[in-house]
Amino acid sequence: MSLYSSFEPAQPDPILGLSAAFARDERPGKINLAVGVYKDSDGKTPVLSPVKEAEGRLLTKETSKGYLPMEGGAVYGELVRDLLFGSGHPVLRDGRARTAHTPGGTGALRLAADFIARHLPGRTIWMSDPTWANHPQIFHAARLQTNTYPYYDAATHGLNSGEFLSALEQIPEGDILLLHACCHNPAGADPDPETWEAIARVAAARGLVPLVDFAYQGFGEGIEADSVGLRLLAQSCPEFFVASSFSKNFGLYAERVGALTLVAANAGEADTALGHLVLGARTNYSNPPLHGSAIVCEILTDSDLRRRWEQEVADMRNRINHMRTLFVDTLAARGVSRDFSFLTREKGMFSFSGLDREQVDRLREEFAIYIVGSGRINVAGMTEDNMEPLCEAIAAVL
Ligand SMILES: Cc1ncc(COP(=O)(O)O)c(C=O)c1O
Repeated sequence: MSLYSSFEPAQPDPILGLSAAFARDERPGKINLAVGVYKDSDGKTPVLSPVKEAEGRLLTKETSKGYLPMEGGAVYGELVRDLLFGSGHPVLRDGRARTAHTPGGTGALRLAADFIARHLPGRTIWMSDPTWANHPQIFHAARLQTNTYPYYDAATHGLNSGEFLSALEQIPEGDILLLHACCHNPAGADPDPETWEAIARVAAARGLVPLVDFAYQGFGEGIEADSVGLRLLAQSCPEFFVASSFSKNFGLYAERVGALTLVAANAGEADTALGHLVLGARTNYSNPPLHGSAIVCEILTDSDLRRRWEQEVADMRNRINHMRTLFVDTLAARGVSRDFSFLTREKGMFSFSGLDREQVDRLREEFAIYIVGSGRINVAGMTEDNMEPLCEAIAAVL
């Protein structure tokens, strides 16, 4: 018998599977709201102009492709922490934060998962219901137990902060609390600052260890403003983790650039914890990939490139928000009576449209419009050009 003859075919990833079906679809005017990447007004996922320029500079000045340290370069770590907390933050002043550069935000989450499984065993990972589909898979792959807390209320199209906070009160002491820093994927609904304060209070009182997934910094309200929740947590919780991704806000998806930052009770413990953390990297990918982090460092340390990057992040954010408003207005102009205005209160690329499975299927089959089965839409897949046919089709299936 051959090695794989008894294997059943692997379950395709539902979202990537839809993208493959979209690519095969030959109908003109097809629309993809299922993808997980930013698209510009031409429907392209662009290379940001400061990224192109930084790469040009690196081409001439790079002198070695020797290995990075297991935790990545020191400058990169410092820049990541400054983006998270703002330079001079007490956590940084007290030397309590350490950063490991990882292959993307997924790599950061998996490094955290392996570290928790090995060094903080017996702790369950609590995640929002719903959450990014890869979250439970990553933690299960590290053999961790997961559970969920209530988060999104489909009836009100918003965060159910009452149920959310009372569920946090029931989480066993010491467990890991996975939170989306901003631009919740898939719900688009984030806690307001008062709710973040309450989350921080409960987490601190119950000795929970937050693990903050920060994949969309700058896509919500601004690069600085989007870290408000994280900074409120840092005021109350002495120990936590942050998984950063620069896939979206630098458009560096394929370069796999992210980071895991751990905050410990004091500088000595932070050093010890980092020592164990990097051994997890050593037995996995050994040391992180250079190119993406070199681009990030070049941009963040050059005032002109940094200013242009901040502007391009603002442009992406503003385009997404403009599409949210235009979508709601165009549906209303088409005579759709259902209230979609909640979409303009949500943040980031994703939201639940409220379309059900049957409507999603009809949109794909009859109109070549691709949406995830849950009704989650990527607003960045909308453009001025596809808005009319999109809204016309939605009006038809409603
Ligand atoms: C919530 C969330 N976390 C983490 C990631 C990981 O991003 P990457 O591994 O591409 O950096 C994503 C990407 O879609 C995401 O949506």
